[in-house]
Amino acid sequence: MKLADHKATLSFSNGAPSMELPVYAGTIGPNVIDIRKLYGQTGMFTYDPGFLSTASCQSAITYIDGDKGELLYRGYPIEQIATQCDYLDTCYLLLNGELPNEPERNGFHKLILNHTMVNEQMQFFLRGFRRDAHPMAVLTGLVGALSAFYHDSTDINNPEHRRIAAIRLIAKMPTLVAMAYKYGVGQPYMYPRNDLSYAGNFLRMMFGTPCEDYVVNPVLERALDRIFILHADHEQNASTSTVRLCGSSGTNPFAAIAAGVACLWGPAHGGANEACLNMLEDIQAKGGVAKVGEFMNQVKDKNSGVKLMGFGHRVYKNYDPRAKMMQETCNEVLGELGLENDPLFKLAKELEKIALEDDYFVQRKLYPNVDFYSGIVQRAIGIPVKLFTGIFALARTVGWIAQLNEMIGDPEYKIGRPRQLFTGSTRRDVPTLGQR
Ligand code: CMC
Repeated sequence: MKLADHKATLSFSNGAPSMELPVYAGTIGPNVIDIRKLYGQTGMFTYDPGFLSTASCQSAITYIDGDKGELLYRGYPIEQIATQCDYLDTCYLLLNGELPNEPERNGFHKLILNHTMVNEQMQFFLRGFRRDAHPMAVLTGLVGALSAFYHDSTDINNPEHRRIAAIRLIAKMPTLVAMAYKYGVGQPYMYPRNDLSYAGNFLRMMFGTPCEDYVVNPVLERALDRIFILHADHEQNASTSTVRLCGSSGTNPFAAIAAGVACLWGPAHGGANEACLNMLEDIQAKGGVAKVGEFMNQVKDKNSGVKLMGFGHRVYKNYDPRAKMMQETCNEVLGELGLENDPLFKLAKELEKIALEDDYFVQRKLYPNVDFYSGIVQRAIGIPVKLFTGIFALARTVGWIAQLNEMIGDPEYKIGRPRQLFTGSTRRDVPTLGQR
């Protein structure tokens, strides 16, 4: 970390001695004040629920400028990555720091595609779930269970184990997500076909059956690949921080990624794509575009508890660049499938138009996020709403694992252990049963 050319001084109004705190500068973005010695020197903690002002780590992977609406993977703008690279190139970049040259690219693609199969026993593990289980419940279990199958890659302190676990996780996630889907609909599992692309293979495992050949539609393949790229990493969001915190105890990589899957499930995070599509379907069922005004009034009413799902972000205070790319993909996919007049797409556009002009949203800098259009694309491809967050988990796996490996390799890493401001009862004695 590079020291900035100035320090911060913390002073107290009660006459306690002030304290100088080092300031570090990143390559871009806000500086940070190093408070690691604060407790030792003052006996005080900082208080920052929700990490509104706290950098929990140093990282060189992903950078977001929320005010500009900019997202960089290893320095490259998401718009360039999404149009000039494929998902596996993106995985290589996130894991290794640089884009692969041609031999590296071929080697990496081959490596991933050769690890797509999962242990046959996984099928029997799946059978323990109800057929109507939510795919995220199933996936949390399946990913956690990988550690019971791949004992040779569970030592988080062994760089070779971490490398193999990363390859296995990226390669096997599409197979697991497709298996969770097939199990739910009662169709036979489709084994991976390694001559297909990563996205093409996933489409076939999802929608192919053993009864006939499955021909991959290149427009849908490209759209899915783009969804994967746009969701690949997003710096220290809730699920990534969960993976880091979980991994900081030294647990195995599969267990740490399973923790990420569990966190992603929530509607304020990855579950927003599912919640967003349910919201659109709900408005559509109540009258569609004509009911938008009424719905917006509910959103603006603090007591209603209704949110415009797919809108707002902790970091972006401008248009989420991923939402722009997703809208483009949405147009392409709907055009390819002859669904240009899709009522939900029209409804989403109308909601967006109104929200972008409405004072409530303008004042709070609420813009569409990646989830606003991704559900429409996925639904058009044929992915059921309940599986949307599973697709997000599949794509984010590389980000989680890159961040986890970065943390383990960081000499400054320690087990994560936040502190608290205690507001409960002071010491007291247990009364006898009769006195309670
Ligand atoms: N609809 C209505 N009002 C909203 C929304 C929304 N979608 N998002 C934020 N607000 C309001 C919020 O009520 C608050 O108003 P006030 O200042 O009057 O109390 C203000 O905007 C600031 O919001 P916040 O909840 O303090 O912001 P946050 O940074 O804690 O939350 C968020 C960010 C993403 C959880 C939130 O915007 C939200 O719940 N959005 C809907 C869910 C969603 O789309 N999540 C996906 C995020 S992107 C993908 C991912 O990371 O997984």
